[in-house]
Amino acid sequence: MTYADFQSLCEQRHSIHSFENTPVTKEEVLSLLALARLAPSVDNLQPWHFHVVFNRDMRKQLMDACCYGNFVEGAGVLIIVTADLAVEKESKKTLWNPKELEYSCITAMEHIWLGAVASGLGGSWVSLHHGKPHEVLDLPHEEVVIGGLMLGHVKIGEKSAQKERRSLEKLYTFHE
Ligand SMILES: Cc1cc2nc3c(=O)[nH]c(=O)nc-3n(C[C@H](O)[C@H](O)[C@H](O)COP(=O)(O)O)c2cc1C
Repeated sequence: MTYADFQSLCEQRHSIHSFENTPVTKEEVLSLLALARLAPSVDNLQPWHFHVVFNRDMRKQLMDACCYGNFVEGAGVLIIVTADLAVEKESKKTLWNPKELEYSCITAMEHIWLGAVASGLGGSWVSLHHGKPHEVLDLPHEEVVIGGLMLGHVKIGEKSAQKERRSLEKLYTFHE
């Protein structure tokens, strides 16, 4: 793969909120989770767990947990990532910033999102309130809900343009 291929993939990724009814299959999800597995994580602790919600009734219940009214019910699938804080005990090192367990989960979700675009799917990040997902997914206390990705086959005609970004020059400071 060239830099240009990867750039093109990044340019094709937009947040998508409308989906066709075509289902997303378990095989499609498993191939995306295989990419998530390769993501970097603090001390290689791989603290992530993915709750793959195909069940429409559960997604309906989870609509209440969405911070910005995302239409997760209409997506093909909702993948919720949780961080298992108990893995910290497995680390021989001191985790100076335990939040890094949570950051690690986000790197895995980016693998999934870009992989979804590469395989012809689209979707959006879903911010979730705490509480309700624990109830619906019956999660133990040590599993922290990081967020979700709703994925599906992009609705034909869905407008997806690159949103404006701050200019490159404003993003960095070179310390030479
Ligand atoms: C941590 C995080 C939380 C987000 N939460 C939501 C959300 O709850 N609902 C939503 O529609 N988009 C959400 N987004 C998507 C952003 O709004 C979107 O990425 C941003 O506007 C840029 O647009 P683009 O993804 O099309 O490039 C979130 C993105 C991130 C990284």
